Amino acid sequence: MSDKIIVTGGAGYIGSHTVVELVQAGYEPIIIDNFANAEKSAIHGIQQIVGKEIKLYEGDCNDYSFVRDMLKKEGAIAGIIHFAAYKAVGESVRKPLQYYKNNIGSLLVLLDLMLEFKISKLVFSSSCTVYGQPDELPVTELTPKKPAESPYGNTKQISEEIIEDVVKSPLPIKGIALRYFNPIGAHPSAKIGELPLGVPNNLVPYVTQTASGKLEKITIFGDDYNTIDGTCIRDYIHVVDLARAHVSAIQYLESKNETSLFDLFNVGTGQGNSVLEVIKTFEEVTGLKLNYTIGPRRPGDVEKVYADVSKANRLLHWKTIFTLADALKDAWRWQQTLG
Ligand code: UFG
Repeated sequence: MSDKIIVTGGAGYIGSHTVVELVQAGYEPIIIDNFANAEKSAIHGIQQIVGKEIKLYEGDCNDYSFVRDMLKKEGAIAGIIHFAAYKAVGESVRKPLQYYKNNIGSLLVLLDLMLEFKISKLVFSSSCTVYGQPDELPVTELTPKKPAESPYGNTKQISEEIIEDVVKSPLPIKGIALRYFNPIGAHPSAKIGELPLGVPNNLVPYVTQTASGKLEKITIFGDDYNTIDGTCIRDYIHVVDLARAHVSAIQYLESKNETSLFDLFNVGTGQGNSVLEVIKTFEEVTGLKLNYTIGPRRPGDVEKVYADVSKANRLLHWKTIFTLADALKDAWRWQQTLG
């Protein structure tokens, strides 16, 4: 059986960490990336960690003939992990067509080519954004989805439905959608990590760039929520733990003989932490003082969300090994390599 796994977006934040974990689990990852939101240095970092060269095809997953030529060249493929997508919530509101075209288009190209090349296993990057503000916490995979609040969120919901429809049909495709909570941190080697474009939107890159002096201060978006300290609660997962879940998902699909199998898994830690807790933990693990102020709420933010991860624990035989403190330490170590 082939050990080759196609990793679209394999130079990106979660993709690059997954490529490392795949190599360490004995697979041969092959990266497709157009470097729209990734840097060539990530490939170099991956190779330094794993100590060997990783095959890279530079191009766009929406480009049918490019992906087809690549698959023709590569021969038997064990599965595809599809990360490549636009991911900025705010931008998706301003540029919905780009988001629908890119995120849905690339999935359709891959599904089509999976049939032609008899590739049966697909792992898809979904998001806890599908739950919106849930009525009950923690959220399980049975928690009802809420109408998407952004075109980005909608592309995740639609993609899950497309995969489910294809799997339910007589077509020989099995699929898993992993619903990510909030990935943070970097590889403990500090050779790969997140490389936000411009000023970061997400909390932890904002924290590390403030600590490094690149940004002047961080604003906490609202302290009047109905939570322990008034700031929003999220489930922050170390990116290496999240990456490991993809390897487990591939192994799970390999262990199942059914030709049509679709499953969804929450991938978080099961623990909710407030924005202030993240900031305090960061200060504790680094010994630094962070310059922060309280500002107004950010439109569209949910008050609190965290995962029930018992399904992934049970069926994928996966559980997290890193703590919030580990993730923040690794995020800071990575930031220091960037200056
Ligand atoms: N926050 C601040 N100040 C900042 C940045 C963030 O207070 O400068 C707060 C936010 O208000 C939120 C928390 O930190 O309470 C986390 O915010 P992030 O932007 O890091 O993450 P989100 O939970 O808003 O978004 C993430 C992903 C999205 C995904 C969403 C699903 O980035 O892709 O989860 O809920 F859609």
